[in-house]
Amino acid sequence: MSQAWDSSIKDELQRVEQEIHRNIQSEQSILSEICDYVISSGGKRMRPGVTILSYLANGGKDVAEAIKIAAAFEMIHSATLIHDDINDRSEMRRGKMSAYKKYGLQEALISGDFLFVKAFGIGGFFNEEIVSLVAQACTAIAESEIVQIEKEGQVAPTDIYMDIIDGKTAKPIMAGARIGAYLAKANTDRIHSMGEYGHNIGMAFQIVDDILDIMGSEKTLGKPRMVDFDERKATLPLIYAMEDAEVGAQLSKLFYKKKKTDKDVEKALELISRTKAIERAKQKAQEFADKALNALTGIPESQHKTGLRLLAETVVNRSY
Ligand code: IPE
Ligand code: IPE
Ligand code: MG
Ligand code: MG
Repeated sequence: MSQAWDSSIKDELQRVEQEIHRNIQSEQSILSEICDYVISSGGKRMRPGVTILSYLANGGKDVAEAIKIAAAFEMIHSATLIHDDINDRSEMRRGKMSAYKKYGLQEALISGDFLFVKAFGIGGFFNEEIVSLVAQACTAIAESEIVQIEKEGQVAPTDIYMDIIDGKTAKPIMAGARIGAYLAKANTDRIHSMGEYGHNIGMAFQIVDDILDIMGSEKTLGKPRMVDFDERKATLPLIYAMEDAEVGAQLSKLFYKKKKTDKDVEKALELISRTKAIERAKQKAQEFADKALNALTGIPESQHKTGLRLLAETVVNRSY
């Protein structure tokens, strides 16, 4: 097997787990239990990984500070997933029952809030600049989740889709990459480059996620397929498929249906497979991944830079 993107930071990622664990303790044991349930269920740990790799690739010397902020990013991410599954009515996450399904709606909502607040409490979040960057990323998530709800049931132009994924996925990863470089005391150019890297892998990542929603396997993804189609969310591959001259109109009709049968979904999959939508979306994801790789040009070679490069490749080639 080829080298894994996170092979140079296994110890650091282990320390991130410990840091998270320390920070999700509560007198109300149900809160700790729900957070632990979600966090121990797995996940790729891409956000903490990017932050730590960015820190180390930029010459950071005290990895403990990067570990703290990386833990905070993973906690924020997990909090958004708990809330996202409520919003999306998704019953499975990380191969298990989603938190609200297992523990109830109110409990899941509150444990998401708890995780957010605990993340902001880690290490006092260092200084105003870091707090502001993290807060901006969280704001972007909230705002684009709202736009996404507003656009549900519409086939909006691709630039609206790009804005949504920019806010909900790319900006938070960008913030992690920037903060990693900032904490490592990299110069402004390098901090900017790392931000570009994070932003572009975030865009590629979400496009691939939306492709996998159509093409992936529920078992490896740990979440069901065709959710976006079912929920009338016009993702990039779906927009492309509905543009198709032959099958677009028929597919759109199924897309707009509020209540879809298994047969509708099966038919939609067949129609999508007759278009070039998946290839086109893959190509778009590859363009973003290439931009991420280009952004690394000014970063000196190291095993951690290799990790960042491998991650950009993994993001587009992943099947989970
Ligand atoms: C899921 O993120 C939400 C998206 C932005 C698509 P991940 O696919 O990174 O989730 P985990 O952390 O690996 O479970
Ligand atoms: C993930 O978005 C949640 C955020 C990034 C806030 P999606 O709804 O597209 O991701 P999945 O498919 O549930 O993981
Ligand atoms: Mg969602
Ligand atoms: Mg979702």
